[in-house]
Amino acid sequence: MSFKTDFKPIALKDTNLFKPIKVGNTELKHRAVFPPLTRRRAIYPGNIPNKDWAATYYDQRSQRPGTMLITEGTFISPQAGGYDHVPGIWSEDQITQWEKIFNKIHDNKSFVWVQLWALGRQSTPDTLARDGLRYDSASDGIYMNDQSKELAEKSNNPQHGITKDEIKQYIKEYIQAAKNSLAAGADGVEIHAANGYLLNQFLDPKSNHRTDEYGGSIENRSRFTLEVVDALVDAIGEDKIGIRLSPYGTYGNVSGGTEPLIVAQYSHVIGELEKRAKAGKRLAYIHLVEPRVTDPSLAEGVGEYHDGTNDFVYSIWKGLIIRAGNLALYPEITKEFIKDGRTLIGFGRYWIANPDFPDRLEKGQPLNNYDRDTFYSLTSEGYIDYPTYDEAIKSMY
Ligand code: PHB
Repeated sequence: MSFKTDFKPIALKDTNLFKPIKVGNTELKHRAVFPPLTRRRAIYPGNIPNKDWAATYYDQRSQRPGTMLITEGTFISPQAGGYDHVPGIWSEDQITQWEKIFNKIHDNKSFVWVQLWALGRQSTPDTLARDGLRYDSASDGIYMNDQSKELAEKSNNPQHGITKDEIKQYIKEYIQAAKNSLAAGADGVEIHAANGYLLNQFLDPKSNHRTDEYGGSIENRSRFTLEVVDALVDAIGEDKIGIRLSPYGTYGNVSGGTEPLIVAQYSHVIGELEKRAKAGKRLAYIHLVEPRVTDPSLAEGVGEYHDGTNDFVYSIWKGLIIRAGNLALYPEITKEFIKDGRTLIGFGRYWIANPDFPDRLEKGQPLNNYDRDTFYSLTSEGYIDYPTYDEAIKSMY
């Protein structure tokens, strides 16, 4: 194991990052959040969290008491999925494995939120066809790219703009998945409305060409996302719900910052959330992908958007905000962001490689390098074998 060499860590122990904060019903001891990270090690068939490794992976990353973890994106139903090695939370087998994972996290006195995921057109039409499932999105035939189009045509599963009844069905599945998450012991759920996935496909004018009340205007494009929020608030309570948004994201061929009305689109959604908050139903947090990362499939620093910021969100939303996006190697920026008393920071890729990541942030210790090749490999390597700082030092002598 080697440390990242071209990087000077700074101890953040005297900043707000290491002050406690309450999120929903959980009392965090610091504000570094383990964000949702796809790792593709779930068991096929069944989309079951990996029985050999997943509990250890989450156990290692929740060692510091009072840490908030958000799970990897987790399918709410088979129709919402289509990746064989991503976990779901609809079956008994899945819930049983999640329970074991959540118990480990709680044994460490840390907390866990389940990220509720529906892929839409970012899914794989041939895999869905194999399982007798539709290839869904906001609109018929507005493919993400030529490859998706070809695959959809070849597997005779063309992209389908979901009907209003199908929207209602998705909402039911969000509710059931949220209830299952709590039944498995989670502290809350996060609605994934970012990074070009199904809800983002409705929010975005490039992917949403609908002519009914779910398309055509900013208000209409926001409707599905807000209906999911309202349904979950009724089902499990606003304090157990967060939502993830990526206003400047282009992943999955959505607009990003070049669309003049994109900030207006997100201002509307966030304004609606703040209206509900003022009426007594404040969500636990809003989780923002920073314009520092517009496409999470690219390496850090590639695809940054420099002509806009997420600062507008602070003018609208008066609750907690998690900001994530290539911040582990930029402690000076973290220091600036965290000065705000209602901000938390998500650190993804380097937390994969540094199970004791919050301790290293606190003390300004060097970071293990990560191995990108094993982010999505079906191996325990690159998953549960990264050393803590002490272990790394020992192995060097
Ligand atoms: C990914 O698997 O690459 C992925 C998943 C969820 C995201 C972003 C990227 O929100």
